[in-house]
Amino acid sequence: MGTKYLLSILLLCAVCHVAQASSGFVTVNGRNFYLDGKKYFYIGTNYWHGMNLGAPSSGNQTRLTEELDQLQEYGIKNLRIMGSTQGPDNKSKRIVPSLEYEQGKYNEDIFEGLDTFLYEMGIRDMKAVVTLNNFWEWSGGFPQYFEWYKGHYNLYPTGFYKDSTLTSKLDDFIRVIINRENTAYKKYEGKTVLYKDDPTIMAWQLANEPRAGDCTDWVKWINHTSTLIKELAPKQLVSIGNEGTITGCSERGNHVENIDYITFHAWAQNWGWYSPHSRNGLNNGISRAQGYITSNVNLNKNRNKPMVLEEFGLARNGNSYDPASECDIRNDYYDGVFSKVYDFATDESLMSGANFWAYGGTGRPRSNGGWWKEGDDLIGDPPHERQGWYTVYNTDQSTLDLLKKWTTKFDELCQ
Ligand SMILES: *[C@@H]1O[C@H](CO)[C@@H](O)[C@H](O)[C@H]1NC(C)=O
Ligand SMILES: *[C@@H]1O[C@H](CO)[C@@H](O)[C@H](O)[C@H]1NC(C)=O
Ligand SMILES: *[C@@H]1O[C@H](CO)[C@@H](O)[C@H](O)[C@H]1NC(C)=O
Repeated sequence: MGTKYLLSILLLCAVCHVAQASSGFVTVNGRNFYLDGKKYFYIGTNYWHGMNLGAPSSGNQTRLTEELDQLQEYGIKNLRIMGSTQGPDNKSKRIVPSLEYEQGKYNEDIFEGLDTFLYEMGIRDMKAVVTLNNFWEWSGGFPQYFEWYKGHYNLYPTGFYKDSTLTSKLDDFIRVIINRENTAYKKYEGKTVLYKDDPTIMAWQLANEPRAGDCTDWVKWINHTSTLIKELAPKQLVSIGNEGTITGCSERGNHVENIDYITFHAWAQNWGWYSPHSRNGLNNGISRAQGYITSNVNLNKNRNKPMVLEEFGLARNGNSYDPASECDIRNDYYDGVFSKVYDFATDESLMSGANFWAYGGTGRPRSNGGWWKEGDDLIGDPPHERQGWYTVYNTDQSTLDLLKKWTTKFDELCQ
């Protein structure tokens, strides 16, 4: 998820290993993910705020566990989450409280929120893709790194990759998070579990939508960072978190050896494929999204790695921000996207999964379409977006039923 003010820029496996059995870790072999000896396909969701919900003091653990139960009921077993947010906590349109409230200083309440979140996912057999930073400022991210370490704010921080002062700060954080001991396992089960040994963490993701400037710098950074993560956490996977062919250099990034699987995002309204004000144009929106999936698949066919559409979403009917408004247009769009991903999944595993954006569960906007401020419920729309734009709620029964239909179909492929 970027910003809606986006500038629109815009070998085959000869000796295949037998998939690891019963490790509980998601592994990769050729174009497939495997879990406990079976192929692993999934419909997941973006649930970036779970870390904040899980926080013992500032969060709402009741809400967190209720929502994980809801997701589980509808067959959602894979969550893409934020594992990193930066302060300072007095900036507007940011996720607060942040994890890293000042340079290199972590809010233990939020870290324990991540511990609890991962623990609660683990006991439900869910898997997490943990995003380690953000190109966009809604979580602090690279723009905040520029302010902290270079003395100026940078809202389009493509200069990040070649600046070793900045990238080494991210490396420092990666060492902290990957080696962290999960306090919730200790508390509830008396067990010592380090993040790097937790099968709940399917993958570490370099950043949310790290856009390339210079391809060579970008690829070097991907290579460097993915290699570091593999050294620290060899049992877990690594992905980039990028948007795919709409931004530059994606094929070269996907080629890097330690990038285990390929990610891309599709934003029909943000990228001008569809206007939400009427049903007219929906078919065009669906076919543009399907075309985008196809072009990403085609570009990466020869890479022989799994592929996941890890973000897509749509507004409710008429672009309404009201949780009570109809959302059948969005349902039809989801159906079109899932069916295309499913077609590729059943065609030689050319796709492995898709995450809708985003689950807000029982959270509600304080004011529909207004801006988030501290104390409001966190929902699927980050603080820089109008609240209620893309969120799926626990009361969107038609959407939840549609999700159940598709999670069941994807589960049938897991064998
Ligand atoms: C926590 O979330 C639940 C909904 O699951 C809500 O009823 C409750 O009011 C929330 N608690 C606080 C302190 O916000
Ligand atoms: C925000 O916090 C930072 C330090 O955390 C401080 O330097 C700055 O003055 C604060 N800004 C405002 C507007 O309070
Ligand atoms: C990644 O780095 C390694 C070691 O420096 C190098 O051998 C390899 O060619 C690099 N891969 C890419 C795709 O640049």
